[in-house]
Amino acid sequence: MATITASVYTSHVPAIGAALDLGKHDEPYWKPVFAGYDPSKAWIREHMPDVVFLVYNDHATAFSLEMIPTFAIGTAVEFQPADEGWGPRPVPKVIGHPELASHIAQSVIQDDFDLTIVNRMDVDHGLTVPLSLLFGQPDAWPCKVIPFAVNVVQYPVPSGRRCYELGRAIRKAIESFDQPLNVQVWGTGGMSHQLQGPRAGLINKEFDNAFLDQLIADPDALARKPHIDYVREAGSEGIELVMWLIARGAMADVPKLGSNVVTGKPPHLVHRFYHVPASNTAVGHLVLENNQ
Ligand code: DHB
Ligand code: FE
Repeated sequence: MATITASVYTSHVPAIGAALDLGKHDEPYWKPVFAGYDPSKAWIREHMPDVVFLVYNDHATAFSLEMIPTFAIGTAVEFQPADEGWGPRPVPKVIGHPELASHIAQSVIQDDFDLTIVNRMDVDHGLTVPLSLLFGQPDAWPCKVIPFAVNVVQYPVPSGRRCYELGRAIRKAIESFDQPLNVQVWGTGGMSHQLQGPRAGLINKEFDNAFLDQLIADPDALARKPHIDYVREAGSEGIELVMWLIARGAMADVPKLGSNVVTGKPPHLVHRFYHVPASNTAVGHLVLENNQ
């Protein structure tokens, strides 16, 4: 049986990728951002998963605005870094896990969540920046990655509740896979930010920290937060945070979909980090481990 050992949450600010790629990580502006990830980089070296199920959003890169799946699972053997206008990032290609991805698609779709199955897709900063933050700049990514794209760009976008329930279904799927894999589920995007309009530049530290508190301690209540609260409090792009609820819903203190039975204790907080500024975005980061 495959096991979900931990969940990781992080912002995906594209300028972080550019700072790394251009060798700027020691500049005073960026140093504190990267320092905030040092404990997690050390932790993950000791707790390397076989597979990361990486929940992220595509920014009209792979799908454009012509075709917008609400939830899309990458079932390919590999995924190339996307060209977002400045050439692809100089990072390794992403190696998928088609067998586990197909199994998850089968299980989750039969549990009534409509996923789009994607057999070819380039992955943008939403996926590659979190990998860079946790794994640095290796020649090859140290584990396999299943990309799971969520539409948080074009309304209507899925609710936090829907994302949380989907996380419960994903856990059920992963735990019914017949291979002894160590799987982490990552929720990415956020935190508060708005890139456009009169409120461009909006950051809300209070909202962000309350979100982190509640994500750790009371995800059930957090899942009931309506869209309008994210947009009002955390800015138009703050809605990316609903993706964190997919990862949180897959943890052991939340019953698997179809069950009311809690099988695990609340997760152990390995690391928490919050920093402003990074480009236009508040950077937030958590590592939560399932207690064995
Ligand atoms: C920025 C943040 C994002 O989440 C994104 O997708 C693009 C840009 C920014 O801070 O500039
Ligand atoms: Fe984004």
